[in-house]
Amino acid sequence: MVNYYSDRRILVTGGAGFLGSHLCERLLSDGHEVICVDNCFTGPKQNIERLLGHPKFEFIRHDITLPLCLEMDEIYNLACPASPVHYQYNPIKTIKTNIHGALNMLGLAKRTKSKILQASTSEVYGDPTVHPQPESYWGRVNPIGIRSCYDEGKRCAETLFFDYHRQHGLNIKVARIFNTYGPRMHPNDGRVVSNFIVQALKGHPLTVYGDGSQTRSFCYVDDLVDGLIRVMNSRDGFTGPVNLGNPGEFTIRELAETIIDMTGSGSKIDFKPLPSDDPTQRKPDIALAKKEMGWEPKVGLEPGLEKTIGYFRGLIA
Ligand SMILES: NC(=O)c1ccc[n+]([C@@H]2O[C@H](COP(=O)([O-])OP(=O)(O)OC[C@H]3O[C@@H](n4cnc5c(N)ncnc54)[C@H](O)[C@@H]3O)[C@@H](O)[C@H]2O)c1
Repeated sequence: MVNYYSDRRILVTGGAGFLGSHLCERLLSDGHEVICVDNCFTGPKQNIERLLGHPKFEFIRHDITLPLCLEMDEIYNLACPASPVHYQYNPIKTIKTNIHGALNMLGLAKRTKSKILQASTSEVYGDPTVHPQPESYWGRVNPIGIRSCYDEGKRCAETLFFDYHRQHGLNIKVARIFNTYGPRMHPNDGRVVSNFIVQALKGHPLTVYGDGSQTRSFCYVDDLVDGLIRVMNSRDGFTGPVNLGNPGEFTIRELAETIIDMTGSGSKIDFKPLPSDDPTQRKPDIALAKKEMGWEPKVGLEPGLEKTIGYFRGLIA
């Protein structure tokens, strides 16, 4: 499109979601025009409430499984429910969002010659045998399990991105996002950080699946958003996939104990059986992000949890 201004017009699908709303905010504060497209399945409009009056912000309620005709310079494709509770609610719809959604957004990028970034996931590595996971690892994913609608959907979306790049020369960027947390996470989506905080603040037992020795890495949302923007602005010819996440590794039990401690809660830990396909270890290798974009997370677990706990305290009150 013809752009008469130095800033860009940027489409963010899933822009009302947890990550999307922070990304929209950051892009607006960087001076860009932002079009947020969301069907509000897991992203409530309250997440973008304060942006609605912004002169450079536009919200369109739309489902990306259906085609869309707009003009823009860049697309961040984030639309997709991200927590197991939500993506397993209607698994066929999750696959459609990943695949039909990717096809629609890639078609749009092709017509408008826009640069397009895919929000992929560490779930493409499945239950990994390589630790930490570099981008060159192809993963170990169950194609027929209850998580497959999400994991395989995201893997196929990556394939589509690379085929559009090879076949049509599209300027693509693929970011593989690892566990990210922060304010505006959905309080009931079963993701471990929000779950533990809400349970601790309500004085309920914290649900730990298995014995809690499985490890995860936790990236604070501001670091992640900064990473996404750096991936989009990375040098021409750099497509990724590139890991974005915090390599600090904690057991689920450690996380539960830290949250109990930080909230001053009297909650106990309640151990439950491990769900199927739950990965035992997850930790990003971020050497490529460091080398290509000089990116690494800056916010430690405790300061990040502090802000997140503050948000949920307000929500519950
Ligand atoms: N948060 C994480 O830790 C994490 C980790 C890996 C990957 N990701 C990816 O990042 C993206 C954003 O995740 P999030 O944590 O913000 O999740 P989220 O559920 O808060 O946000 C997803 C947004 O997409 C919207 N959406 C879902 N289906 C749609 C459709 N068919 N059409 C239009 N909008 C639709 C939802 O309403 C929601 O606003 C997702 O693609 C997710 O797979 C997130």
